[in-house]
Amino acid sequence: MAKLVFGNSRDEVDVPDGKDFIEICEEQGVPFACTEGVCGTCVIEVMEGMENLSPFTQEEKDFLGEPDRERLACQCKILGGCVKITF
Ligand code: FES
Repeated sequence: MAKLVFGNSRDEVDVPDGKDFIEICEEQGVPFACTEGVCGTCVIEVMEGMENLSPFTQEEKDFLGEPDRERLACQCKILGGCVKITF
């Protein structure tokens, strides 16, 4: 079981390992549109635990450029451990 921490609200959500972000993040108010890594609506900033996320997808590289602290929430899976994000 992994933990996702929302820096905005300080809510903490337990998440099964390997789960997509979309369902969890939608409940916390992260906006989504295309859910395919194209529109950029779902950009989040990873404050801690980037190593606990799935690798950058090609869609994220195309939209965000070089991997940094930003991710597209519709493209991320949490692999384990703790991840802290803001949006
Ligand atoms: S919802 Fe469009 S890029 Fe994530």
